[in-house]
Amino acid sequence: MKFQSQHILDSKQFDREGLLEVFKIAKEMEEKGGRKLAEGKILATLFYEPSTRTRFSFETAMLRLGGGVVSGSDMVANSSHKKGESLEDTGRVVSRMADMIAMRHPEAGSVEKLASGSRVPVINAGDGVHEHPTQALLDVYTIWKEFDGKLEGLKVGMVGDLKNGRVPHSQYNLLKHFGVSFVFVAPEGLQMPEEYVGERVENLAEVISELDVIAMTRVQKERFTSEAEAEKYAGAYVLDSELMGKVKKSAIVIHPLPRVDEIAVEVDDDGRARYFDQVENGVAVRMALICLVLGFDE
Ligand code: NCD
Repeated sequence: MKFQSQHILDSKQFDREGLLEVFKIAKEMEEKGGRKLAEGKILATLFYEPSTRTRFSFETAMLRLGGGVVSGSDMVANSSHKKGESLEDTGRVVSRMADMIAMRHPEAGSVEKLASGSRVPVINAGDGVHEHPTQALLDVYTIWKEFDGKLEGLKVGMVGDLKNGRVPHSQYNLLKHFGVSFVFVAPEGLQMPEEYVGERVENLAEVISELDVIAMTRVQKERFTSEAEAEKYAGAYVLDSELMGKVKKSAIVIHPLPRVDEIAVEVDDDGRARYFDQVENGVAVRMALICLVLGFDE
C-alpha cells in the first residue's frame, strides 16, 4: 500500500486512485467499525493552534480502532517548545514513544519540519495558510457519498476567505481529480491565489443557483495583521434561508466549521446542510487513513 509509513503533509500526495482507496476503507469503517485494528498502537496529537473537531476526530478515530492516544492540546504553553526545543527535536523525541503523530501549527511548513526529525509517520492537521489535507479528505468524501461517486461535471463554489483558508487550498487539490469545475466566491483581497484555476466572482447571490456544492469557510481572522483588518470582512457572506431559496434542490452545503456568521442557524434544518454530518465522516476518513499509514491489511 502506497500510504504505508508515509508522512501525510500535503493534499498533492493524493491521486484519484489513492482517494478512492481512502473512501472505500472509510465506508467500511462506517459499516463494520474499527475491529481493534490498531490495538497496541499509540497516536500522539501535537496541537500548537486551537482545535475542537480535528484533534477530537483524530483521537476518536484512534480509540475506535482500539489504539491509544497521548494528547498535546496546547503545545505552545505546555510543552518544551516553551523552553526553546526545536520542532525537529520534538519529532525525534515523540517518535520514540508514539507510532504515529498528528500535528497542527500556525506556520506553513512547520509540520514538515517536525516530520523531518520523526521516525514515525506524521499527519498534517493544518499548517498555517498552507494545507489541511484530512479536512479536505472528509469534505470530498462527503461529496463523493452524496453524489454516489459521480462528481464529473459538478460545479463547486468555494465561498469566503479563500486567500487565508487552508481548507479551500486542500479541497481544490483533491477535487481536481474528479472533473468538477470551480467558482471562487470571495471579496476582493481574499481571493484564491493565482495558481488555482476557476471562475472568480464577488457576488454569491449571482452564482448560487448554478452550484452543486456550496463550500463555505469563515474569515480566518487569526491570519490578519489586526482584528480591525479582519473586521472589515465580517458578514461579507451570510448564507440564510432567503439565499437557500435560490439553491438547487440537489445541492449540498458543506463547511469545515467553526462557523462564525457565514451560515445562519436557520439553515441547519435545511435538508441540504451537511456540515454537522461531516463530523462523522471525518472520524471514518481518519480511521481509514490511520489504517493505511500504519499498514493494516483490510
Ligand atoms: C478549519 C481549520 O482549522 O483550518 N477547521 C477545522 O479543522 N475543522 C477551518 C477553520 O478554522 O476555519
